[in-house]
Amino acid sequence: GSHILSVNQLDLDAINTIFNVAEDMTPYALREKRTKVLDGAILGNLFFEPSTRTRVSFGCAFNLLGGNVRETVGMGSSSLSKGESLYDTARVLSTYSDVIAMRHPEAYSVKEFAEGSRVPVINGGDGSNEHPTQALLDLFTIQKELSHHGQDISGMHIAMVGDLKHGRTVHSLSRLLCMYKGIQFTLISPSDLAMPDYVINDIENAGHKITITDQLEGNLHQADILYLTRIQEERFASQDEADKYRGKFRLNHSIYTKHCKSNTVIMHPLPRDSRAAANELDNDLNSHPSLAIFRQADNGLLIRMALFALTLGVENQLQQHECPVNW
Ligand code: CP
Repeated sequence: GSHILSVNQLDLDAINTIFNVAEDMTPYALREKRTKVLDGAILGNLFFEPSTRTRVSFGCAFNLLGGNVRETVGMGSSSLSKGESLYDTARVLSTYSDVIAMRHPEAYSVKEFAEGSRVPVINGGDGSNEHPTQALLDLFTIQKELSHHGQDISGMHIAMVGDLKHGRTVHSLSRLLCMYKGIQFTLISPSDLAMPDYVINDIENAGHKITITDQLEGNLHQADILYLTRIQEERFASQDEADKYRGKFRLNHSIYTKHCKSNTVIMHPLPRDSRAAANELDNDLNSHPSLAIFRQADNGLLIRMALFALTLGVENQLQQHECPVNW
């Protein structure tokens, strides 16, 4: 029944519970079975910043559990644009919802909103700060992908590439990885876009090894997981400023084949910037078996279904509310 605002609220037991419930969601996500466990419940899906995956998968996850979704998309469609506070907005909107998912361009805005909310609030991304549900689906994906090679999260080597300063997904994922043992991090970014010190400190305090570099090629050969990110152009002062960095690190089939191990798992939270000036992850890898980017998105649905079920306390009632699949 509590908010999910930061990965720092979680421990290994909580993560394993979420992952077990996510596995239970598989037949419902695949439409092999149907449940109405959240019949009559309402999700407030409040997205004050663009989103494809997170917004739609939160909504779809709620629908697949039998609930209804009310959406607010963009600042312009809410009275926040008239100067209303996040607190007042939360007081009002939480009257109409049983749970709220929210994304907003400012760091800590979702926390501020949650303080005014009468119902649980789940952070769908707050500026450059955190994206806890993405980090959970990334970790769930890493665990599944590595298990195919007989490997664990503890002891793995992960290379994170791109805009590590503004990329909230790498901030949240790094801190989840701090709960495991003996991980090697290679952090590859332009020096101006390096991982923030507070995240580096958490990684070091967890006893993990870190290599920091601004070179892609030559630093990938040990990576079990290669986690690419987009230059977060919307966080820069101007487009020109962002354009200085777009296209600096590009992975394509020939670079992968030459510089990575044969089974390095390729991840990206998406969206990838497919415009020629950036193209950080080339389409020529689209059918490569190690490309996990769409499996990440598929896993996102399971994780978000699990989070709703756990937040609303119905994770053990899925079967008792099953009904026939009619299509
Ligand atoms: N990964 C992710 O958060 O994607 P969207 O911005 O499309 O939701």
